[in-house]
Amino acid sequence: MSEKPYVIDQMISAKSIAARIEDLSREIATEFSGTNKLIVVGLLRGSFVFIADLVRELDLPVEVDFLEASSYGDGMESSREVRILKDLRGAIEGRDVLVVEDIVDTGFTLSHVLNLLKSRNPAKLKSIALLDKPTRREVDIRADWTGFEIPDEFVVGYGIDYAQRNRNLGYIGKVRFTAD
Ligand code: IMP
Ligand code: MG
Repeated sequence: MSEKPYVIDQMISAKSIAARIEDLSREIATEFSGTNKLIVVGLLRGSFVFIADLVRELDLPVEVDFLEASSYGDGMESSREVRILKDLRGAIEGRDVLVVEDIVDTGFTLSHVLNLLKSRNPAKLKSIALLDKPTRREVDIRADWTGFEIPDEFVVGYGIDYAQRNRNLGYIGKVRFTAD
């Protein structure tokens, strides 16, 4: 794990995130308007702030569940091999499911999770990612809804970490290493 000093430059303000979530939740509510109970699945740990804000904007009956998949270690590189560290508590067969991810980067994590959940025969399976780095993609996948497309920068805040730090920032910022 790197201990190189860095600063964080704001990229997306808390206000812009909140405004985008309002728009997205309206689209999602329309998509799932006929549902009797939507299961919103947060991918731990990076999506915990996003899912908290998103479900409070959703005017729908929802259940919340979590799944933890590993792909990054404590560094900045995807390991490409995705393992399930914590599975859902509930069954999703015949149910409407929305997977909530923090960032789609190479695409390995989201595609692995969606394939796994698809094999459990949900009625409808959709996904949303707060951030997308399209230039980094190695697996051909896109979330059904994306908050913001961003360039190839390492970002933190709003639930997202660098070596487990900075998850508690209210905004999204990019990590910039400073000379030491
Ligand atoms: P993928 O499997 O390469 O698409 O990786 C997705 C996961 O990598 C995300 O859920 C994040 O947890 C993590 N990740 C990707 N980019 C960043 C970043 O810029 N900062 C922190 N974590 C990131
Ligand atoms: Mg993640």
